[in-house]
Amino acid sequence: MADLENIESAFRSLLASLQAAKLYGLEHLLFKKSVENVYSSLHNILMEKKELVFGIVEEELAFGKEVFFDLSKSARPEILYLKSKGIERITFYIGMQKEELDNFIRFLVTPRAEIETKTSDHFALLGIKNISIGKLKTDISDKEIKVISLSNLYENSITKVQKTFTNILETETIDSLALRFSINNIMEGLTGKYQGILTLATLKTLDLGMYEHLLNVSILSMYFSSRIGFVKEDVLDIGVAALFHDIGRQYIFRKTTGRPAGPQEGVSALDESHTILGAKLLLRYVDTLGILPIVVAFEHHLKYNLKGTPKLFFPKKPHIASMIVSICDIYDSLFRKRGRKTDYSPDLIYNLMIKGKGESFEPRLIDRFFKIIGVWPIGSIVRLSDGRIAVVRDENEYDIFSPQVEVISPPEKKEFIDLKEKKDIVRIDGYINPLKEGKEFLDTVKVFCT
Ligand SMILES: [Fe+2]
Ligand SMILES: [Fe+2]
Repeated sequence: MADLENIESAFRSLLASLQAAKLYGLEHLLFKKSVENVYSSLHNILMEKKELVFGIVEEELAFGKEVFFDLSKSARPEILYLKSKGIERITFYIGMQKEELDNFIRFLVTPRAEIETKTSDHFALLGIKNISIGKLKTDISDKEIKVISLSNLYENSITKVQKTFTNILETETIDSLALRFSINNIMEGLTGKYQGILTLATLKTLDLGMYEHLLNVSILSMYFSSRIGFVKEDVLDIGVAALFHDIGRQYIFRKTTGRPAGPQEGVSALDESHTILGAKLLLRYVDTLGILPIVVAFEHHLKYNLKGTPKLFFPKKPHIASMIVSICDIYDSLFRKRGRKTDYSPDLIYNLMIKGKGESFEPRLIDRFFKIIGVWPIGSIVRLSDGRIAVVRDENEYDIFSPQVEVISPPEKKEFIDLKEKKDIVRIDGYINPLKEGKEFLDTVKVFCT
């Protein structure tokens, strides 16, 4: 009997192959190798079992009555991805050829819009005879299939970041592929429905967790770099590098207190050493994470005029990725202060940061940043000059002070307004803190996050 361990491992290799296809493309050697792995693990099982049915029950991976909880947890983005394609059951039959499997995995990663025929016709066309897909024949299959929700993506990525951090701090191996897959999904969320994920990032700053800060810096850096023209692969590299910018700080804090640092804790005292230490820690993972996280960890407090830390013996302009992450890092850190006593409003943050133009920040880059993010970021709750309450839904690149807003209160006066067009009539008068007086509007804002 093929034991459960082999079945779980076949499942695992199938999911890894999906990741490899999405991250590296279908012509990459790593993808081809991953298909080999899936094939050999399935082949061995099929020799004994004749057919193998993998199921997705709710959000768990299952085989027969067995549910692979651990695997389900670590493979949530891939599970949600399959479910979004309407796949709850995959059956492999004895006699399956490697070419069929290869075509099947290619089918799984091809966007539905690009497949013109019905799935069964498409399978016939590709010669896929010994694999079938469908819904589970249980009560659950009648339920509506949940599409990937951005909140889910966000939560899942937090878990991945947390796990990778712990592994790095404990010098364990890391699953960089799974991490990249997660970040890749976030990036796709950014290009498709970026308003949603940015709103989420804006609201998540209220939780004040370290990992939320790291993920927000990563999301912002990816959003910013993609909008200024970086290609997808580079955007992903910058996003991953941004995640690790403060790993040195985490390390020192954990060593001294035995617990993870909050987003603001110990920043100043550790500024100098955490950049160097972070780079050293990441150097151990250069084969899996690449060089960029090391560069960014080392340079993110360097400042454009090199008057930050660490002090360089041979002064050299910071890498563009470090300059991007540094802007997003400071922006998110200031943004968080909002929920605390200091209560920094977005326009105050803009004024503070623009003062650093040419000193802390590369002048053109900081200007571009605010053109893209706006003074009032997407998801901000604001009071209009006519007394109505609105939420910012989109920016106006050519007038960073006048975004597009949706009036949410009073309910009978709901409407979308492009403030750039109505400047003489209505403008933003002030900011409403979502932790205080803005609390009652949070649910209305959040509707757009899922
Ligand atoms: Fe830092
Ligand atoms: Fe930071």
